[in-house]
Amino acid sequence: MKIIIGNDHNGYELKKEIIKYLKDNRYYLEDVGCDSVESVDYPLIAKKVCDEVLTDEDNLGILICGTGIGMSIAANRIKGIRCAKVSTEDEVALSRLHNNANVIAFSGRIDKSLALRFVDKFINTSFSNKERHMKK
Ligand code: RB5
Repeated sequence: MKIIIGNDHNGYELKKEIIKYLKDNRYYLEDVGCDSVESVDYPLIAKKVCDEVLTDEDNLGILICGTGIGMSIAANRIKGIRCAKVSTEDEVALSRLHNNANVIAFSGRIDKSLALRFVDKFINTSFSNKERHMKK
């Protein structure tokens, strides 16, 4: 599993904390986000993350912008991407358990400790009860 992370200028500070956490915990990761608070176009970064997520079904993506909304909209335009815009730990868990989300998006303005809990829950929760949640 590779974790691909992407951020715009509004997600830069939080991205640094998440990368430190992922490295400290020895996750395999790729950072395709911007590396400053200088304004960038977030849809381009969302696409980079999603294209890389789609190279392996075990990959997961993390998107951070001002609200998480723009990144999630951009991500969900891409076939094969199931991006959940999350604000609570429960939403993160359920996005994996029920929706098999392969990408989450959240605001760069949330607390670092909450963001790290999101990341941990996202990585360590699996899709469950496929019969129920994959009915046509
Ligand atoms: C960037 O100006 C801002 O629109 C972006 O960070 C995000 O909040 C979009 O949803």
